[in-house]
Amino acid sequence: MAPRICVVTGANKGIGYGIMKELCQKFDGLVYLTARNEERGKAAVAELNKLGYFPRFHLLDIDSEDSINTFAEYLKKTYNGLDVLVNNAAISYQRTATEPFGEKAENTIRVNYFGTLNVCHALFPLLRPHARVVHVSSSFGHLSYIDGDEPQASSLRSKLGSPTLTEEELNAIMNDYVRDQPPLRKEQCLHVTWHSFPTISRTYEEPIYGPRKRLLIGSMDPSLTQTKKFKCAHLPIVSE
Ligand SMILES: NC(=O)c1ccc[n+]([C@@H]2O[C@H](COP(=O)([O-])OP(=O)(O)OC[C@H]3O[C@@H](n4cnc5c(N)ncnc54)[C@H](OP(=O)(O)O)[C@@H]3O)[C@@H](O)[C@H]2O)c1
Repeated sequence: MAPRICVVTGANKGIGYGIMKELCQKFDGLVYLTARNEERGKAAVAELNKLGYFPRFHLLDIDSEDSINTFAEYLKKTYNGLDVLVNNAAISYQRTATEPFGEKAENTIRVNYFGTLNVCHALFPLLRPHARVVHVSSSFGHLSYIDGDEPQASSLRSKLGSPTLTEEELNAIMNDYVRDQPPLRKEQCLHVTWHSFPTISRTYEEPIYGPRKRLLIGSMDPSLTQTKKFKCAHLPIVSE
């Protein structure tokens, strides 16, 4: 029988690495640690080996369509399927980052939204019946956290909150956001991308794969967690 296959994106450190540890212990099948950098990815696998866990490794840069397609072809050729996908990879800027907002918005939305969407386009066709997909998101993606000058903030909230929003419309909202840089209360590009994940999920569930595949696609909030990049002594570390 073909092994069950699980993939975690951006798994060489932080929350993705923590998820890897749990999956290596609990998942009945092969777990793939993917990373955009081979050295960092293999170093993370070596760390897991020391703990007695033996995941597989594959390169995956979600900011590169070539890298995504290469990985999708590898999975198709080797296993002809996928059972669990954890979309964890993302970038974020430190609060103190001095890059202009337009640059931060463009990079964040390109990697976190369009990169994740491209992963979904390439890997969802491989999902087997009963597969599970988890988008690592945040409760800060709730519409109530998207606020600022009116009427721009209300307009963005109502577009993002529309229950009939299509993927094309969502893409346009993201591109408009980068172009127009609406005057929100804070630099909320991360919030906007987090909010997008349930919509990506909804557009994929029934219409494309039908009820018989019984896919379960969800988003989760890891809560504020200390990582190497995001250091705050009062916050829990990943293993907690
Ligand atoms: N930490 C929190 O408190 C918190 C709160 C809410 C939500 N989240 C979400 O949780 C997830 C993980 O966050 P984290 O705090 O663990 O972040 P992190 O420590 O910065 O780790 C991010 C991971 O994503 C990888 N990555 C970045 N760009 C990539 C790309 N183009 N292709 C593939 N991998 C890429 C990074 O690889 P490199 O090592 O190569 O950079 C790293 O492995 C993110 O989706 C984040 O939005 C985190």
